[in-house]
Amino acid sequence: MVWIDTDMGFDDMLAIMMVTASSRDIAGVSLVFGNAPLEEVRGNAAGAAGLLGWRFPFFGGADAAILGSVETPAHVLGPTGIPTRGKSLPKVPPAPLSSAFVALTSWLEGLDAPGEILALGPLTNIAILALARPDLKPKISRVTWMGGGATRGNHTASAEFNAYADPEAVAIVLASGLPLRVVDLDLCRQVQVGPEDVDALQAVASPKAPLLADLLGAYVDIALHRGRPGMALYDPTAAAALVAPDAFVFEPARVTMELAGTHTRGRTVVDQRPQAAPNAEWGMKADAARVRALALDALMEAARA
Ligand code: RIB
Ligand code: CA
Repeated sequence: MVWIDTDMGFDDMLAIMMVTASSRDIAGVSLVFGNAPLEEVRGNAAGAAGLLGWRFPFFGGADAAILGSVETPAHVLGPTGIPTRGKSLPKVPPAPLSSAFVALTSWLEGLDAPGEILALGPLTNIAILALARPDLKPKISRVTWMGGGATRGNHTASAEFNAYADPEAVAIVLASGLPLRVVDLDLCRQVQVGPEDVDALQAVASPKAPLLADLLGAYVDIALHRGRPGMALYDPTAAAALVAPDAFVFEPARVTMELAGTHTRGRTVVDQRPQAAPNAEWGMKADAARVRALALDALMEAARA
């Protein structure tokens, strides 16, 4: 069983499609602010579940960072967090969501064997869990997180969005001793999608394909509009690290989170010197062709379903 924590953008949706396409069962999905304010994220989750027939439960998590800020990439993704070339997710009135903290802790308490968490947004919900229920740490086999970046950022020149949106949460999780596997920007940049993938999806003869192609197209446009030939697959690369870990090389690292830098707040500093005591596994290499195939096959499967 896997628990997914997400700020439900398009790449989150595709990551969840990949987990549902694998043999892994999803115990629950906790929502967190990030790609958009939590209210929009709830609407995205309801729309995606309606479109894709997801039956696993959603729970409401943090609507702001540990210190109270609500940072979103609205200047890139628009107010909903999921831009489109035309068609949008169905507007499904989201049902009232019960507490993600209660649901996640109950799930962990009931486990006979430790469970895995796939974290695809700011780490606020995971940090709250680590602080409030350290006794449940042995019930978590691994947290695989899409976030951070050892070189250039995407939300700022030096910080990746999920880290920048709640740097204190990252610092708390790094200090907690939770077994953390980091899928950072540089690893995700090894795996790209482009216009040809949008065309291939558009060509699928199914009622869902045009909408999914409009969402994938708008995701690829993020790169095309900046003069780049393809767009990194962020959350899908993290999902692939969970469903196909043998497609990756991870190495131990001492990761610290910059909290105070005027220009570097939210930056992950990665130390792999011999004297550095590791606190995480850092993704170094991905089999890009395999990860792309896992993502695109899951997308095509969802389109044809
Ligand atoms: O920086 C990329 C990350 O921020 C992805 O998880 C994306 O969905 C957003 O949450
Ligand atoms: Ca995300």
